[in-house]
Amino acid sequence: MSDTSIEFAVPLKGIPETAVIQSNLPVYTPQQREEKIANIKRLLKQENAVLVAHYYTNEDLQMIAEDTGGYVSDSLEMARFGNRHPATTLIVAGVRFMGETAKILNPEKRVLMPTLEATCSLDLGCPAKEFSEFCDRYPDHEVVVYANTSAEVKARADWVVTSSIAVKVVSHLMDQDKKILWAPDRHLGRYIEKVTGADMVIWQGACIVHEEFKARALGELMEQHPDAGILVHPESPAAVIDVADVVGSTTALIKAAKELPHKKFIVATDNRIFYKMKQEAPNKIFIEAPTAGEGATCKSCAHCPWMAMNGLHNLEAVLVSGENEIFVDEDIRQKAYRSTSRMLDFVAH
Ligand code: 13P
Ligand code: SF4
Repeated sequence: MSDTSIEFAVPLKGIPETAVIQSNLPVYTPQQREEKIANIKRLLKQENAVLVAHYYTNEDLQMIAEDTGGYVSDSLEMARFGNRHPATTLIVAGVRFMGETAKILNPEKRVLMPTLEATCSLDLGCPAKEFSEFCDRYPDHEVVVYANTSAEVKARADWVVTSSIAVKVVSHLMDQDKKILWAPDRHLGRYIEKVTGADMVIWQGACIVHEEFKARALGELMEQHPDAGILVHPESPAAVIDVADVVGSTTALIKAAKELPHKKFIVATDNRIFYKMKQEAPNKIFIEAPTAGEGATCKSCAHCPWMAMNGLHNLEAVLVSGENEIFVDEDIRQKAYRSTSRMLDFVAH
């Protein structure tokens, strides 16, 4: 395993411009891999634990979650599943905010993560103190934050949303003539504004993975594949979103890959999503949207460096040691619970 230092493609408010991440996962022989998988499945049962994984984690983790009665999904459905499942231990394979969301909603459960180092550039780029000061400048605004934030930022918010319901929640607030403050993803914020017509105050954060998709190179790729459908996650730049056939959460993009008539898709999101897309639409072709071209840094190259930190080795280790538990200060948790459970109530109605 090695440490890799990445620089963010865009300067992010309030954080250092580099982060050290552990990238390369251990390489196993086929037999070692089989043994690890079998041991993890055994330990999950023994610990009365359930594995909840994001679509951006590696194929083995997604496969184990599905084989053992766990769940693979987007950030909203991961939260909902963890909330309704009876297991006493939730193992969350993804990034830190996903584990914290699980703990905010389920204080009585033990929430463990394969690594506590896996963060998110949106979370890093929205420090709670600066964010609170920003909110103070707009006291008459409803504060709506993306789930990709810390528990402290969620505690300061009126609403927490994920990409799958952000547009619906903002439309709902507009019906009540509310003014809206949005954080932290500026591309998703601009997309919500465009779709809903809302006038929003927007924090200028970005996802280092989606920020790198290049519109001009995408245009050239589209000329080579004029029959391809274009699927784009709304954390991508506006010029990439503008050429999409479907813009949506990871779940929405997988659904589109299955249901649209196209035989081929160009996909602007983390490429580990291809595992599920190929399962759902085995006869279709999936092409990664370009991250190369003018101004390219390729610090992430269509795979989140923090999602990549989740592997068989640390999943097994956490099941053995019980380390890497998520704790959230109770006062913060209660405040964050208000804005986060609101999202689940909104979806339920
Ligand atoms: P989804 O909620 O669409 O899965 O997105 C989470 C995320 O981190 C995307 O980069
Ligand atoms: Fe955060 Fe982007 Fe990674 Fe999603 S892909 S967890 S938004 S850095």
